[in-house]
Amino acid sequence: MKRRLVMRLVLLGDFHYSALEEKDKSKDIEIFNTRDNYYEKVISEFLTTEGDYHISLGDITNFGEKEELKYVFKSMKKDNVNFIYVIGNHDSYNSSKKEILREVNQKRYFSILEEGIKLIFIDSTLESNRECWAGSIDEDQLKWLENEIISSKEETILIFSHHPAYNTTALSTKENLYIKEIDELNRILELHKGRGVFFCGHNHLNSIIKRENWLFVQTGAILDINAFRVVDINEDNIDIHYKEIEDVNNISKFIGENMNYFMIKEDARGREEDRVLLVSNL
Ligand SMILES: [Fe+2]
Repeated sequence: MKRRLVMRLVLLGDFHYSALEEKDKSKDIEIFNTRDNYYEKVISEFLTTEGDYHISLGDITNFGEKEELKYVFKSMKKDNVNFIYVIGNHDSYNSSKKEILREVNQKRYFSILEEGIKLIFIDSTLESNRECWAGSIDEDQLKWLENEIISSKEETILIFSHHPAYNTTALSTKENLYIKEIDELNRILELHKGRGVFFCGHNHLNSIIKRENWLFVQTGAILDINAFRVVDINEDNIDIHYKEIEDVNNISKFIGENMNYFMIKEDARGREEDRVLLVSNL
């Protein structure tokens, strides 16, 4: 029997909202209208899904344009919604991290301790680097992360990162598709003996992997999957649900195919076990 729900999270994969700079507003009106209708619908469904925290796993914009950042962060503001965001590499292509954080009014990395759950939001993105889109965590942040983990031995730990940990979820051994500080991150994660979940985006495929006491949960890009995750942290289990947005598959494909710096991935939904999972405590 399912015990008490402690916390519910609503998770958004790579969002890639695009200002469509490459298009002409007077000639390509259809793509602009389609984009507006699509994102309004997705944002509305995301924010009206009940949860304690609504979290974007980065690449909330397609190219880090000021107009893109302003639109998404303004749209994610809603009464009674705790919206939190981690920086993705695409968000930093045209804006510095400082500018992004000012827009969203957040710190670069921080944690929240609530109801015996430690939520850790990390910055795995290089500063405005269009040549290398790999994940990286600077030394100061790694030290901070280690302290956060050591001080939370008894708690459930949830980490939110744009990039995956190496050799965990789909594609996370490929160049630029994992956090480069492999040994250091593994050593830090192994310090935790209780239950832990590492949430990420970046590789645009749904994927769930279990490694000892850690679950690694990657969420696909919204334009590919048209869904978000709802994760229940219960006293005696973790229950990962998958909420699909109806009737938008054709329009999301049309938007994705008409954007620069984005490639549609047909296999992003993954297998059933990449979308839903119930894991009992050890
Ligand atoms: Fe992305």
